[in-house]
Amino acid sequence: MLGVGAYRTRSRPALGAVLPVPISEMTWQLTDEKNQRVRPADWIDRPVMVFFGFTWCPDVCPTTLSDISLWLEELGAEADRLIVALISVDPERDTPDALAAYVGNFDPRILGLTGTADEVARAASEFRVTYRRVDKDDGDYTMDHTAGVFLFYPDGRFASIIDFHDDRRFAVPKIRRTLS
Ligand code: NI
Repeated sequence: MLGVGAYRTRSRPALGAVLPVPISEMTWQLTDEKNQRVRPADWIDRPVMVFFGFTWCPDVCPTTLSDISLWLEELGAEADRLIVALISVDPERDTPDALAAYVGNFDPRILGLTGTADEVARAASEFRVTYRRVDKDDGDYTMDHTAGVFLFYPDGRFASIIDFHDDRRFAVPKIRRTLS
């Protein structure tokens, strides 16, 4: 435990002891809302902002995507090189077409990524994101999921997290630090 404690003190992670894998070391493959396959190598040399969620989410996801759209509007052309992606934790319902319709409600720079259950699980594990299906009494289901927005530098290094409960004023400066 000494090693873990020392590591946590030194790196001051925003959530728990385990940080996302650098993009350059990730191995996932997903499909975007235009049915194109996407791999981490496609994102090298670009700053990256990733958020996990699902289109049926009643609250946290639409709020986060609205916030992201406002941040992108504030950053304007400065954020044009930023990769912004929603990765679905509900691939059963979130087909590429469903994601296209959903992200179409928000800033056009936001991509929607989905895949098979295994593909999504691999991506989530590399971002250190957790999610689980929660069955409801009426036979429907919802998903619990990590709600933070992950930021990475163009060289793939993890930069920071915009937590759902953080003061939103700090979001744009955090994003800007990944852009230069
Ligand atoms: Ni959600």
